[in-house]
Amino acid sequence: MKTISAMSKLATSPFAVSENVGRMQSSATMAAMQAAEALRAAGVNVCDFGAGEPDFDTPENIKQAAAAAMKAGRTKYTAAGGIRELQRSIIEFYGRTFGTEYQPAEVMATAGGKQAIFNAVVTLINPGDEVLIPKPYWVTFPEVVVFAGGTPVFIETEETDFVLTPEQVEQAITPRTKLIILNSPSNPSGRVLPPSDFRRIMELTAERGIYVVSDECYLRFVYPPAQVFSAASLPAELRSRLCIAGSFSKTYAMTGWRVGYALASAEWTRAMLKVQGHSTSNTNSIAQWAAVEALNGPQESVSEMLSEYTRRREWLLQALCEIPGMKCGEPEGAFYAFPDVRAVLKNGLKTSGDFAQRLLEEEHTVVTDGAGFGAEGFLRISYATSIDQIKEGVGRIRRLVEKLSEPS
Ligand SMILES: Cc1ncc(COP(=O)(O)O)c(C=O)c1O
Repeated sequence: MKTISAMSKLATSPFAVSENVGRMQSSATMAAMQAAEALRAAGVNVCDFGAGEPDFDTPENIKQAAAAAMKAGRTKYTAAGGIRELQRSIIEFYGRTFGTEYQPAEVMATAGGKQAIFNAVVTLINPGDEVLIPKPYWVTFPEVVVFAGGTPVFIETEETDFVLTPEQVEQAITPRTKLIILNSPSNPSGRVLPPSDFRRIMELTAERGIYVVSDECYLRFVYPPAQVFSAASLPAELRSRLCIAGSFSKTYAMTGWRVGYALASAEWTRAMLKVQGHSTSNTNSIAQWAAVEALNGPQESVSEMLSEYTRRREWLLQALCEIPGMKCGEPEGAFYAFPDVRAVLKNGLKTSGDFAQRLLEEEHTVVTDGAGFGAEGFLRISYATSIDQIKEGVGRIRRLVEKLSEPS
């Protein structure tokens, strides 16, 4: 028999939305993308700092590999966890970069890093389980936990400039803690966990029997002196409850191709394969062959993108810091700046969301409100856009800040 609340839900909506899905929030980053698209469609000259994807094209050798795969008829179902060649290429990349020895039973290809995170969370979390999520977080983390019926428990990190510490993790652990989701380099803050702290967090979680999802989607975009570090390089006893979620999207400018991967114990991987096998099955067969080429072909495109991001980052940081009242910590990885705008909220503006809205309406400039990442008062500014756009956009932000400072 249906409960009264379930019946009233059915009466007001044509869909019987489940309670967990009902509790999920829409994506703040997708909302920013849609706002930019709507303005562009109306013929407005938009400065778009909302993009969470590289503005570069997919490298030519990768496109050629896809074309060759299509021509060769590699267009059929593959194993749910991907073709052997891709699994082997992922294992070999981690082997040569971090000295690891993953086995084929411990790797699966997914439709982007997002599906790897989804698989990892839904195979592990039961109602009542708590999942530690450091703030600011990538928008999807808490929503996947809610979807799985778990409880997100947020860790405040502003005090330590958004770099998570082992002490903060220790204080947040309760008997119900099942999992922590780490993301270094971080979207949105760009902060990178120092390797020694990463290790201590892994030791702490191993001691307490807590699982770890380490989202390494921005692994290859780290600015020295910060160091590229993968949890995969830790000793095996610290990795038995670890799932690495990786992606080709950012590294090889392949966001639309939908290829990512999970590296985890054979047992966890078997469970994830069940979920994927009964939902999406394999990710696109042609894109899988393209991903094999991405890992094994020339890597110059990655270093070229990194040096361009480095140039833009320097310019953007300096320009933002020159705006009176704007404070911006240094991102050490990824391609986002995350300034604190609380000191420029004047003339009736109360939140970073108000600021983002005014910026959109008056200056036709799109940024993402930090509130969507659990950091009200901050804005995410993506520098995955040309230096000319960055210059124009920062000029517009400056103009709004100056307008707000004028007596009303
Ligand atoms: C932190 C983080 N993780 C995972 C993803 C997922 O990327 P994809 O599913 O395209 O691999 C993104 C994309 O924006 C991200 O920012």
